Parts: sequence; structure tokens; C-alpha cells
Amino acid sequence: MRIVVLVSGTGSNLQAVIDAIGAGRLPVEIAAVGADRPGTLGVERSAAAGLETFVIDFKTFSTRGEWDAALLAAVARYAPDYVVSSGFMRIVAADFIDAFPGRYVNTHPALLPAFPGAHGVRDALAYGVKVTGCTVHFADAGVDTGPIIAQTAVAVLPEDTEESLHERIKLAERSLLIRVLADLAAAPGLWCGNKQDDGGNHQ
Ligand code: GRF
Repeated sequence: MRIVVLVSGTGSNLQAVIDAIGAGRLPVEIAAVGADRPGTLGVERSAAAGLETFVIDFKTFSTRGEWDAALLAAVARYAPDYVVSSGFMRIVAADFIDAFPGRYVNTHPALLPAFPGAHGVRDALAYGVKVTGCTVHFADAGVDTGPIIAQTAVAVLPEDTEESLHERIKLAERSLLIRVLADLAAAPGLWCGNKQDDGGNHQ
């Protein structure tokens, strides 16, 4: 199973995937890693691991449509089975979703549909929930919407800050993402982006 991974930041979840592949625990090939801005640690880590990388720098495009088209072309070039948004902080265009139907996977640091958006950890903490977590889902053109594949709950501790909670969520998120990718590799197309396909609970 070939994947392209998209990142915007530190890429610690991506690093866990790279390590799992390196340790022979995940039968997946990372065809390339792409970012929406230059200088991300995620791309640095990927290059250090000998992976192909590309940057489609949002700031260098005069229109959103041009950036959308460039991102789609860059990813499609690798003909991936799945595209994984791992801390990729951009919503992709409908054309992108159409090009990879049921094959665009996103990770989010909250229990969707609660707390979507860029500040899922902060928002959960501010609301005062006692349990939050992470979600891996098939993304559509909305903000953290689309059929849920799997989730893990994480307890909120009284002393938690956004940083401490996010770090604990990321530990759960890494295992969850690796497990979902392993399941997809074992049964490609099983879920096809339609949560009613198998009626399963992938906890
Ligand atoms: C993850 O929690 C992801 O869900 C969120 O940003 C974080 C990315 O962390 N959108 P990293 O870049 O993998 O370290």
C-alpha cells in the first residue's frame, strides 16, 4: 500500500509511522511527504529518512485555486492508494476529495464530531470535558468531517495544560493511525469511505 503523507508541522505522528515501517510493523510504503510551507520539521524528518518530499507553499500562489491544483497534481503524481493528512492544517478542495474518493485519511486530536478545527485540544480543555481523545477519519471537504474510522479516548487530568493534554493525545493518535493504516493495508478498500459498508466498530 502506497501512501502520500501531508504535514504542516513537527511531523511526530509521521515519525511514528516511519518508525513502524522501519521496524517491519507496518506493511506500507511512504511514496512521498508533502507540506504546505517550507521549513517544516515534518519534511526534515522525512528527508532524513530518505523519503521523497515536496512543498506546495501556500504563500507563493496568487489564488487558492492555483494552490489547490498544484497540491492535487503533486500528490497524484505518486498514484497513492491513500493520502494521509497528519497535522496538515489546510482544508483541501472538493476536486482533491474527488480524486481520492474514500482514500483521504485525516487524524484529529479530539473525539469528533466534538471539537473540530485547528484548536481541538484547547477547545476541549476550555469546555471542561473530562474525556477527549483522537479520531482517524476519511476526510471530506469540510472541517474535520467525514466518516469516522476509529477513535481512542484520553482522560483529561485536572492539572492538564493544552500542551500536556496534546502530548498525551498524540501518543494515542500515533498508535491509532498506525493501527488504521495496518488495517487498510490488510484489507484495502474495506471501508471505502462509507461507514455503513461493514457496520463495524473499529475500536
Ligand atoms: C496532531 O495532533 C494532529 O492531529 C493535529 O496536529 C498534530 C500534529 O502533530 N492536527 P505532529 O505534526 O504529528 O507532531
